[in-house]
Amino acid sequence: MTDLEDLKAEALSLLAKAESPEKLDDLRVAFLGKKGKITEIMKTLGSMDAEQRKTFGAAVNKAKDEIQALIAEKKEKLEAEALNLRLKAEAIDVTLPPRPDTEQGRIHPVTQVTEELLAIFAQMGFELAEGPDIEDDWHCFEALNIPKSHPARQMQDTFYMKDGGGDILRTQTSAVQIRTMDNKKPPLRIVCPGRTYRCDYDMTHTPMFHQIEGLVVDKTTTMGHLKGCLVDVMKTFFEVDDVPVRFRPSYFPFTEPSAEMDIGCSRENGEFKIAKDKGWMEILGCGMVHPNVLKNCGIDPAEYQGFAFGFGIDRMAMLKYGIPDLRTFFEGDIRWMRHYGFIPLDEPSLTTGLSLNGGLKL
Ligand code: DAH
Repeated sequence: MTDLEDLKAEALSLLAKAESPEKLDDLRVAFLGKKGKITEIMKTLGSMDAEQRKTFGAAVNKAKDEIQALIAEKKEKLEAEALNLRLKAEAIDVTLPPRPDTEQGRIHPVTQVTEELLAIFAQMGFELAEGPDIEDDWHCFEALNIPKSHPARQMQDTFYMKDGGGDILRTQTSAVQIRTMDNKKPPLRIVCPGRTYRCDYDMTHTPMFHQIEGLVVDKTTTMGHLKGCLVDVMKTFFEVDDVPVRFRPSYFPFTEPSAEMDIGCSRENGEFKIAKDKGWMEILGCGMVHPNVLKNCGIDPAEYQGFAFGFGIDRMAMLKYGIPDLRTFFEGDIRWMRHYGFIPLDEPSLTTGLSLNGGLKL
């Protein structure tokens, strides 16, 4: 009996010191394993007489059960401690700001501003139309009432395709007006964003730039609609209730009367900002569609009239987001993109349903 008590005491003191599952397992083997101390004692039962075997056997079994239970209890405790330690070590503090992720891309200001403008026009009921970058003389000039000898051709320094086939890089998205009217009957209300090309290079001009063209043709369309539409677009785009705007008479071969719209702005440290009484910046050309243009597309000018406008997307981006040099838009400098680019949003944009790939291809 004393042996048993001593054994239990030994097991208890070893148990207290076992601080890992491995140590605990060693302990189990040392006492309860095939050659364990308790097992060895059990083996001695055979040599005892019946009465002795009964009492001693019961005592050994009890000691065995007790040691087993203590090991199990300690095991549970150790496991719980290990889990707590892990939970502490791997804890996630959801209140921490996200790690700066240098891999995340940015939306180019031109893409951003195009989407913003399309969203505004979509809400006004405009449809999207697109045309090719490589155009022919007819769509880019002739049909727009700009014949070969016309001085207006000098206004737009054209890139000609090398093959001599007469194709050009379009100098204006106005070409898409013609493609639209060739393919669809009025009433029309379309916008066409896209790349345009002219041989020009300085702070505010690059050989490739972006325009957005608008065309509305209906039976009762007036200059009043044109002004209302453009002023509303500017207010919404610049998120200012009273954008200073003025219309000046101008000349474009494809509109009559023609106008240019200026926006009131200041220029500080090379950055343009919307401002009253500081100066004007020309922002777009517009006017009532010339009867010759309608006729060139088989639309009767006695029945239909319309308005058109065209403006630089890049210039709008410079103005809205204070970007001073247009040339930097197309240099592909990743530091510039991190500074001026936009973080993509997961939410669907307002332009869903008027995506650049979903529109009318002409
Ligand atoms: N296409 C002209 C340009 O690139 C801009 C323009 C002026 C477009 C008047 C129009 C318009 O639709 O009506 O300079």
